[in-house]
Amino acid sequence: MAKEYKRYLVTSALPYANGPVHIGHLAGVYIPSDIYARYLRLKGCDVISICGSDEHGVPITIKARKEGVTPQQIVDRYHEIIRKSFEGLGMSFDIYSRTSSKTHARVASDFFRKLYDDGKFIEKTSMQYYDEEAQTFLADRYIVGTCPRCQNDRAYGDQCEKCGSTLSPDELIDPHSAVSGSVPVKRETKHWYLPLNDYEQFLREWILDGHKEWKSNVYGQCKSWLDLGLQPRAVSRDLDWGIPVPVEGAEGKVLYVWFDAPIGYISATQDLTPDWEKYWKDEETKMVHFIGKDNIVFHCIVFPSMLKAHGGYILPENVPANEFLNLEGDKISTSRNWAVWLNEYLEEFPGKEDVLRYVLCANAPETKDNDFTWKDFQARNNNELVAVLGNFVNRALVLTQKYYGGKVPACGELNDYDRETLAELAKVKGALEQNIENYRFREALKEAMNVARIGNKYLADTEPWKVVKSDPERVKTILNIALQITANLSIAIEPFMPFSAAKILRMLLVEPFGWERLGRTDLIAAGHEIGEPSLLFEKIEDDVIQKQMDKLAAIKAANKAAESAQNIDAQKDSISFDDFQKMDIRVSTILAAEKVAKTKKLLKLTVDTGIDKREIVSGIAEHFAPEELVGRQVLVLVNLEPRTLKGIESRGMILMGEDASGKLVLLQPGEKTNNGAIVG
Ligand code: MF3
Ligand code: ZN
Repeated sequence: MAKEYKRYLVTSALPYANGPVHIGHLAGVYIPSDIYARYLRLKGCDVISICGSDEHGVPITIKARKEGVTPQQIVDRYHEIIRKSFEGLGMSFDIYSRTSSKTHARVASDFFRKLYDDGKFIEKTSMQYYDEEAQTFLADRYIVGTCPRCQNDRAYGDQCEKCGSTLSPDELIDPHSAVSGSVPVKRETKHWYLPLNDYEQFLREWILDGHKEWKSNVYGQCKSWLDLGLQPRAVSRDLDWGIPVPVEGAEGKVLYVWFDAPIGYISATQDLTPDWEKYWKDEETKMVHFIGKDNIVFHCIVFPSMLKAHGGYILPENVPANEFLNLEGDKISTSRNWAVWLNEYLEEFPGKEDVLRYVLCANAPETKDNDFTWKDFQARNNNELVAVLGNFVNRALVLTQKYYGGKVPACGELNDYDRETLAELAKVKGALEQNIENYRFREALKEAMNVARIGNKYLADTEPWKVVKSDPERVKTILNIALQITANLSIAIEPFMPFSAAKILRMLLVEPFGWERLGRTDLIAAGHEIGEPSLLFEKIEDDVIQKQMDKLAAIKAANKAAESAQNIDAQKDSISFDDFQKMDIRVSTILAAEKVAKTKKLLKLTVDTGIDKREIVSGIAEHFAPEELVGRQVLVLVNLEPRTLKGIESRGMILMGEDASGKLVLLQPGEKTNNGAIVG
C-alpha cells in the first residue's frame, strides 16, 4: 500500500529570469504542478507550492552585456514579467520568490559552508580560458570559435547551435573571447567539486531499486547516468554574478547556478513560513519536483546528492518530468523567438486563460514530445470547451431560469436512466484521483470533461424542452440532476480550469465545494436561487487564428533572412585605392548570346562596351537562357587579361552577384546609361 503522507511540498522548476515564460514551460512544468497543487488543496491537504525566478548564471550576464545594462536590471525586468504572467494564468504558487533575494543568499551560502566544513567537497585546480584584455575567466559560453564538426564560425565553447553538437572549449578552432574578441590564454584556477561518484551507491539504491514507479523517461535517464559512472562536479565558477563562495581565498568566485538554484526551493519555503522545516525535514512530507526533461539530472542526481551530503533533508518522492512541447512542428527556441509567450498570450486573449490551460494540458508532452498548433488550439476550444462544457452548463442554467425563474426545482423519483447517469457521475472521482496522483494529467482532464459529456448526453437524451409540455413534473427532476452535474463540474474542473470553475460557482450563487463532495447529487438544495447565466467559453474565429499564424510566419521569415545573413562570406583583405583604380568597369549592352557547343556552363556573349564590340565567355549557362540576356545592360570588367576558352578569346568579365543559396543575379545600372560609362 502506498505510504500516507501528512503534508505535501510541490516545487516547480525555477524559470531563468532572462526571458518571459512560453507555452513549452507551461505544458512541461507549470500547468501540471498547478493542477497537482490545486487538487491537493481542494482535498484539504496540507500543501505548499513553491516557485520563483532563477536569477543567476552566465546567460543572464551575457544578455546584460549585450544590452549594456546590469544583470540585476535584466532579472528585475523578467522576474516581474514572469511573476505577473504566472499570476494572470492563475498559477496558485504559495510563494513566487527569487534567487537574488537576501534569504536565498544566506540559505545557499550556509548550505555550501556546511558541506565545506564537513569536508564534502574536493578542491581542484585546473587550467581554464582567461581573457587577459578583460581580465576575467571565461565561461564556456563566452568562448566563440569555429565548430570542428560543421565549420560554423559562431560556435560556443559548450555547444554549436548550428549542428547541435556538444563541445568543449578545447575543441573550438580559432577560439576567441566573446567579451573582448581577444585570443584567450589558459590560466590556473581553483574550484570546489562535489564528488558525485561517492553518491553512486546511495543513488542506485534510492532510485533504481526504490523508485521503479517513476516515469520511464525519468527512470531511464537516471539509470543511464548511473551506468555511465558519475564524476565530481564543479560547484563554483569564476564569475562576478552570483552568490560569492563563502570561504577564504575565493575572491571572484561564485556558486555555480545549478548549485544555488535548487536551494532556492528551500529559501523560498523559508520566506513563505517560519514553519518551513516541517516541509523539508520530516519524512511525513511528500516532496514532488515538477520539471522539464532537461532538468532531470539536476533534480534526480545532483540536488539529492547535495541534500544527502548536507543531511537532515528529505528527498523527492517523485520527479514527474515531462518531455518537450514543439510549436507548429518546430522546436521551441527562445533565441529564435519561436514560441508563444505567456505574457503576449494574456494580452492578446484576455479572458481566455483557461483555454490555454486546457489546450496545454490536453496536449501535454507527458510521454513523448508533442506539438502545439493554433489550429488544434482553435478546434479544442470550439469543439470541446464551447460545444461540450460551455454548452452543457449554459443549457442547464438557461432552462432553469426559463422554467422556474432560477429556483432550483426539487428532485422527484429517479428512473433507471437517471440512476445510470448518476452512477457514471459517481465513477469520475476515483478515476480523477487515480490519474492525478499518478501524474497522468491528460487522462485526468478527460475524466473531468467527462462530467460535462455525461451532462450533455443526459440533456440530449431526456429532452426536457420537449417533455416540459407533456410531463412538467418529470422536468423538475431532469433539471435538478442537470444542476447537480453542473455543481460537480465546478469541483472536477477546478484544478485544470480555475477561472471557469469559479464562474460556474458565481452563476450558481454557491460557495466552493470540497473535493469530497465530487460525485454527489445533493450539492444544491431545491429552492436555492441561481444567478444569471452567461457563456463560459466563446467560439474562436478563423481570423483570430490566422493572425497568430501570420505572426509565426513572419518570425520564420525573419529567422531565415538572419540565417542567410550568417552565411555571408567574411570580408576579404583590404586593398589600396590604387588597386581599386586599376580595375576598368564599364556599362555595356549584351548584343548576342549563344551556348558554347559541347559545354554545359558556358555562354558566348557579344557585348558593346562603348569602347568596342567584343566577345566574352561566361560560365552562366545554367543560370540564364541566352535569349533573356540579349538587350540587357550589364557591368563588365573590361581590362581583365584575355583568356581563351574552347577556342574563343574571352575579353573581360560580366559582373554578377551570388546570393546565399548560390543563385546568380545580373548587376545592372538602375537606369539606362550610355555604353562605356565608367563605374567607380
Ligand atoms: N532555471 C532552470 C531552467 O529553466 C531550472 C532551475 S530549477 C532549480 O532550466 F531547481 F534549479 F531551481
Ligand atoms: Zn557545428
